[in-house]
This record gives sequence, C-alpha cells and structure tokens, in this order.
Amino acid sequence: MADDELELEPLEPNITLAEILDQDSLQRVCMTFARMHGTGLAVVDRHRQVLVDIPAQYPLCRRISAHPAGSSICGTFDALIQSEEANLVDGSINKPCTCGLGYEILAIRHQGMVLGRLVFGPYRDAGMSSLAPALAEALRSGDPEADAATLRGAEQDLQKMESLPRERALQVVRSLGEVLSVIVQTGYARHLTSQIHIAAIQDAYNELTEKNRRLADSVEKLKELDKLKSNFLATVSHELRTPLTSVIGYSEMLLEGLAGELSSDQRDYVQIIMEKGDQLLQIINEVLDISKIETGGIQLACERVNLAELMQQVGDAMRPPARRKEIALTVHPAEMLPPVWADRTKARQVLLNLVSNAIKFTPRGGTVEIRGELSRMNAGPGGGDPLAPPAVALKVLDTGIGIPEDARPRVFEAFYQVDNTTTREYGGTGLGLSIVKNFVEAHGGRVWMEAREPAGTVFTVLFPVNPVQGVTAAHGRPSPRSQTVG
Ligand SMILES: Nc1ncnc2c1ncn2[C@@H]1O[C@H](COP(=O)(O)OP(=O)(O)OP(=O)(O)O)[C@@H](O)[C@H]1O
Ligand SMILES: [Mg+2]
Repeated sequence: MADDELELEPLEPNITLAEILDQDSLQRVCMTFARMHGTGLAVVDRHRQVLVDIPAQYPLCRRISAHPAGSSICGTFDALIQSEEANLVDGSINKPCTCGLGYEILAIRHQGMVLGRLVFGPYRDAGMSSLAPALAEALRSGDPEADAATLRGAEQDLQKMESLPRERALQVVRSLGEVLSVIVQTGYARHLTSQIHIAAIQDAYNELTEKNRRLADSVEKLKELDKLKSNFLATVSHELRTPLTSVIGYSEMLLEGLAGELSSDQRDYVQIIMEKGDQLLQIINEVLDISKIETGGIQLACERVNLAELMQQVGDAMRPPARRKEIALTVHPAEMLPPVWADRTKARQVLLNLVSNAIKFTPRGGTVEIRGELSRMNAGPGGGDPLAPPAVALKVLDTGIGIPEDARPRVFEAFYQVDNTTTREYGGTGLGLSIVKNFVEAHGGRVWMEAREPAGTVFTVLFPVNPVQGVTAAHGRPSPRSQTVG
C-alpha cells in the first residue's frame, strides 16, 4: 500500500517508532515471521534503540557464541543492525556475518521518512557451501585444538542447516516490511487520535481549573458577604430588641392601668400593640438566634433535663393558641423516660417551634399530639440497631396541611417556606426549623419529618440520653456543663 494513496497527516518530525507502535503487537508479528522461517529478527528505531531482538535458534550460532571469542564474533551483528547503510537504498541490503551467514536489512519508512530498520537473519543462502574462511581466523583463542574442534563442529552444524535462497529471503523481508508499514500507519493514526484526545482533555482540564479558581473566588466573596449579612442581622436585631421591649413593657403598664383607666376601645388598641409587639419580638429573636448560629456557634449549657416535664410545660404554654383554633392539643410522655443531657432552654425552644408549626399549619378542629418515648440514636428511616446509644424521641404529630414531597428536603433550610408568596396565608420568617435542626444537632441529636396518613405531618427529634463525647471533645470544652458547638 503506497503512502500517497492515503490522505495522511504529516508526520511529526521527531516522532519515534516506539511512540507509534504498540510494542506487544510488534513483538508478536516479528516473532511469527522469525519462527516461520527459523531465523532471527530485529527492529531498531532511527535512534538505534532496539525495539525487538529475536535471536536465531541455530546450533551453529549457539556453538559460536559459546566459544571464548564468541562474543566478539557475534558482536558483529550489533554493528550490522546499527549500520545506516540501508537507509540510503530503496529495498533490502544483504550483509554476511563472520560465519558467512546472510542478513537482510531493510529501512522502515513512512511518508518518505526513515523511522528505523528491520534486520532479518542470519540465514544460510542456498549458494553457501561452507563456512567463511574468516571464521577460522576469528576463532583463534590460544587453544588450537579446541578451536579446530569448534570449527569442525560448526562445519557439521552448517551442513545440517536448511538453506534459504536469497530470492525467498527477500520476499519474506518485503512482506514483513509491508506488514510493518501497515502497523506503522494504523499506529500513527492511533497516536494522532490519542494526541488529539490528550490535547482536548488538557484543554478541558485547563478550563475546569480556571472555572474552579473563579468558583473558589466567588465562594470566598460569598462567605465574606454572608458574614457581613450575619453581623448586620445580629446588630440590627439586637438594636431593635431594646426599644421593642420598652414598647411591650409600656403597653403592659397601660393595660394594667398604671397610667389611669383606659376606655374599652383604648384597651383593645393597646392589646393589639402588645400582641404585634410580641410577634415582632419573636421574629427578632429568631433572626438573632440564626445569626448567632452562623457567626459564633451555639453555646450549650447542658444539664439533666426531664423531657416529660418539658413536654407538659410546652403543652400548657401552647394550649391557648391551640384553643383559639379549636385544636385539641394533647401530651403523652411514656412512663419512666430517662432524663437527657441537654440545654433546657434550647430543648424547650425546639419543642415550642415544632408545636407552634403544628398548630399554625393545622386547620381549625384538628389535633396536635406531643409524644415522648424511649428510643435509640439510629431510630427513624433505615435505623433500628438495638445496640445504638439510647435516646428520647420527641414526636409532634398533627392533622394539618402536610408538606408536599418535593418541599420536604428543604424545610430545614433557613428562610425556606413552602408557600413563599407575598399573599401567603401563614405568618413567619421560615427560620424556626433551621433553628430546631441546628440546636438538635449541637446536642449530637437528630431531627426529621415524615408525612402522616391520611393527612398531616410528624416531626421527630432524638435527644441522646448520655452526653455525646464527640461534641464536647470536638469543641475543646472538658466541662460537661457547658458546650459550644460551631
Ligand atoms: N407541621 C407542619 N405542617 C405543614 N408544614 C409545615 C409544618 N412545619 C413546617 N412546615 C413548612 O415548613 C416551612 C418552614 O418552617 P419553619 O418553622 O422553618 O418556618 P415558619 O414556621 O414558616 O416561620 P417561623 O418558624 O420562622 O416563624 C413552613 O413555612 C411550612 O411551609
Ligand atoms: Mg415555624
């Protein structure tokens, strides 16, 4: 197959045979040819690096190389394969070794460029009747008898060797040359494709590195902005709280008649001022909590807390708003619940948030239950290992509007609300559940939600019964009475 029949990419000027050829296939092809004709075979690249070297298996060659002068006699082969004479001719050149056996040397070309040489031999030419006279001279080792014995043996070996007419040897070399040219051609195409792939991957990698760098910059900037936002929220809500507390306090004093009797209308108005003030204070407190969580971590003051008692207190506190919506609020602590190791105020806030959500999102006439039961830390979906550490599970079950499936993974995110339209029916800032999750996890606990059939939602919180070592140790507070969780 001539090169100019194909549309080929120009060859890279410094490319080597080793880069183009698959060494294994080259070795296999050469081995097949060498074994087929019982000769040796070698391939060298243009930098004289030997890629394939299959020695001849003739008894004559073994005998000569075993002789003390063998290495210098057979060393002429090295000189042969390194000779660049064949590069200058079109076709094979024939060279004899010291014994007189022949070698065919053919340049391996691709697109007119010499990439290496193929050396076929040694073989016994049909015209060779005896060993070359130069061999007797080369064998001279100082032991004339041994040399004569080697020479006799070598002569016998030669006579037993099958001969190969040069015409036939040339045919073999030509066909091997053609096979190699095909391998070179496909190998070069493969080499180019892989170079293109490598270049494409390198480009993609560079692009990705650049994008990553820009992304890292943006993340850094966003983190700074986030910190600024948290600090701003913390400062503003703190500053708002003081005057608001006064507004609520003065409204209370007015209602108590400390500034004189109020008319019925005046009482109603002041009552509204106080209620709205309370609502506003609750929002401000939530914003403060979340900004504290984001900036400074959560300060826990842990002690043994009886959750059954806490459930009753929260139930009592939430009964008035429940009653206003005609919702039956019930509390069911299991008997003999062990105390948990928790921050009482935060545990109360967790339960208050869950119960106030349950009441808020349950239509008039529904029910809300607070249940407490003994559990294990890996309870819940996929859990149930009886060897997991003990926990108390607080459950808040409602018969409310439920949470659509696609919104469930997001309800614990700060500011996330299922209905976030400006016309939404329910008040709030979307911070309650985020605070719950942060507080619960600071205790080493867990919180999750499940849908309830036929309607409603169940929120479950697990508080570990025993102090969680990791939590304390991770934040370097050896005293179990106070833990900080970042
Ligand atoms: N028991 C529930 N039933 C139905 N939806 C709920 C329930 N609890 C929470 N959600 C949904 O999850 C959202 C997030 O709750 P979260 O408590 O964080 O915020 P919020 O109640 O809207 O506002 P905030 O608690 O800050 O006053 C709610 O807006 C609501 O859409
Ligand atoms: Mg809420």
